[in-house]
Amino acid sequence: MSERAAPGADPAGRGIGPGSALGPGSSPGGGFGPGPGPDSAFTPGTACWVGALGRLRDVVRQEVLRSQLAGLPQLTGPPARVLDVGCGQGTQGLHLARAGHDVTGIDSSGELLARFEDALSAEPAEVAGRVRLISGAGERTPDLVTGAFDLVLCHGVLMYLGDITPMLTALARVIAPGGALSVLVRNGLGIAMRDGLRGNWAAALAAFDSLDYVNRLGLPARAHAPGDIDQVLVPLGWQRRRWFGVRVFTDHVDEPGPTAAGLADLLAAEREAGRRDPYRSVAALLHLVYGQVGANDGAMDKQIPTSGALIA
Ligand SMILES: C[S@@+](CC[C@H](N)C(=O)[O-])C[C@H]1O[C@@H](n2cnc3c(N)ncnc32)[C@H](O)[C@@H]1O
Repeated sequence: MSERAAPGADPAGRGIGPGSALGPGSSPGGGFGPGPGPDSAFTPGTACWVGALGRLRDVVRQEVLRSQLAGLPQLTGPPARVLDVGCGQGTQGLHLARAGHDVTGIDSSGELLARFEDALSAEPAEVAGRVRLISGAGERTPDLVTGAFDLVLCHGVLMYLGDITPMLTALARVIAPGGALSVLVRNGLGIAMRDGLRGNWAAALAAFDSLDYVNRLGLPARAHAPGDIDQVLVPLGWQRRRWFGVRVFTDHVDEPGPTAAGLADLLAAEREAGRRDPYRSVAALLHLVYGQVGANDGAMDKQIPTSGALIA
């Protein structure tokens, strides 16, 4: 792995200094820099998103993603510098900081950054001290941070963007040699599955021929197939090294998470399905991991099987 420069706050003061979370008096939209971040297409869905946190679908999404990330070589060595763009309430960032990694979160929502900050305030000082939060648009990432990162996450963001190229280009620019980019998108390979499983037949029929859909937050959104992301990243010198499904069996279920019967077995089944063909292809979400062409990123050099095999 590359030498690690410490990523810092941006010179304009938007970032919070290395090793510190926000100080007292921080407030949504005001405490993470000079002003609120820009509105995104996600903004009208914020309350609905917050209301669904901790429910079964969210637990499956976050736990399966967490296991898939844990297997990446960037997170199995010494503490990594992780950047989470569109970090929201900080579920993954918090796990990674607890595991000893340095985490920078960028988000355009002051409300969700404030939730992340609240969660940090309940953590031991050494965990909170590994996280810094920045309010801003992910497309401006190179202006908001200094240094390079071993792992950049962008989870649940691309579906809200009219054009994914500025975001992916910005993220690729801040990844250190040997680093990786992890994106979570709505699965454009199997988009009719959700409506089909819920018995919404007209919507399922429409979904076969369109990547545009209205999501559970009531927001217009766009699904992506792996090839759509490859199309942007390959010309920039990146290669898809791994891909997984997230939420194969439970996308149509609406239950409170912690009380779900057999949660451990359910999560084990979801993890297994997410790394095997053909199941991963019909998952609600796809988790795609990219590395630089020619970079020595160890286990990430494994070939992706095309059928019937374990992926990782
Ligand atoms: C569905 S939430 C996902 C939050 C978190 N990544 C997760 O997976 O739990 C989407 C997040 O992306 C943020 N977002 C959307 N567009 C953005 C942009 N252009 N720049 C920065 N953040 C953005 C939203 O404010 C929101 O916090």
